[in-house]
Amino acid sequence: MSDAIRVRLTGVGGYLPRDVVTNDDLAKKFGIETSDEWIRTRTGIGQRHIASGDETTASMAAEAARQALDYAGVDVSEVDAVLVATATPDQVFPAVAVQVQARLGMTAGFGFDISAACSGFVYALATASALMQSGQAKKILVIGSEVFSRLLDWTDRSTCVLFGDGAGAVLLESGGEEGEGILSTHLHSDGRTGDILYVDGAVGCPSTSQHLRMQGREVFRHAVVKLSQAVDEALAANGLTGQDIQWMVPHQANLRIIDGMAKKLALPSDRVVVTVDRHANTSAASIPLALNEAVRDGRIRKGDLVLMEALGGGLTWGSALIRM
Ligand code: UT7
Repeated sequence: MSDAIRVRLTGVGGYLPRDVVTNDDLAKKFGIETSDEWIRTRTGIGQRHIASGDETTASMAAEAARQALDYAGVDVSEVDAVLVATATPDQVFPAVAVQVQARLGMTAGFGFDISAACSGFVYALATASALMQSGQAKKILVIGSEVFSRLLDWTDRSTCVLFGDGAGAVLLESGGEEGEGILSTHLHSDGRTGDILYVDGAVGCPSTSQHLRMQGREVFRHAVVKLSQAVDEALAANGLTGQDIQWMVPHQANLRIIDGMAKKLALPSDRVVVTVDRHANTSAASIPLALNEAVRDGRIRKGDLVLMEALGGGLTWGSALIRM
């Protein structure tokens, strides 16, 4: 990546819905034929937050964005663009990003959404970074916000226990020291695997259900191989090895996948940020939510080398390497 314009990450924020639903709640209150033991053993998930009432993709995104601005000490009037990665927008249009602009009181700049399912945040980071590298923006809010609970088939136990709702945001600013900021991003997609993780229908091709469908075992198989390749690519592009990584902030779909990636990098578990146990899979929100947590509790510090990786419906996948 050209070092003519550096792209620093200066703010983090997150929002989790008020309502928490445990695995036991799913079995006992929701009447789903499952158990805490099955969900924990197969996925590492113990609970998830579920949006209710006035909590929507746009409201959560705006709150996460406000926190990221506060953290960075930047006024909203300085922001040039808002990018929201989401598969669950409140409306077909206006885009969630534009709704976030309005909620934040932004009257200049531009915003748009990015659709890359669970890889959306990595895609949005890459897009924002390219906009900044080309001089089209100096400060960009990059947000992942999702209400997958409203996309799930609650009669399908193989998918409904896996996901949660939430939003995470970062503020990117141009400038900074040599070697600081986004060092690389690598994106991939392959539509031939569209039938193993998808939502059945939308406006262009209506169906009666519009629910998430997944062949979990197949997705798992692809995730292990493709995430591994995306990580190798990030390391090779920067002349690094797994030993150089201080923190892995992975997409939070399954603890077994996360552990597998950590093992590949020879990273001890206390260098991997895990939220899947408390948030479940929040799709495009999972990486910025995890990053928000680890930056705010002091684990991730300035100067740390952070590796992000994600895979989602499409299939889409990718990685990003950032020096904080
Ligand atoms: O974020 C996008 C990327 N997504 C992912 O990376 C997800 C990748 N896939 C996975 O994480 C795993 O494949 C799952 C967690 C989804 C499933 O785990 P698995 O070990 O692959 O289980 P399975 O689908 O092969 O199902 C095993 C058994 C089945 O029963 P039989 O056929 O062996 O009798 C299922 O019917 O578990 C049963 N099962 C359940 N049992 C209790 C499926 N869902 C449940 C459930 N509770 N919720």
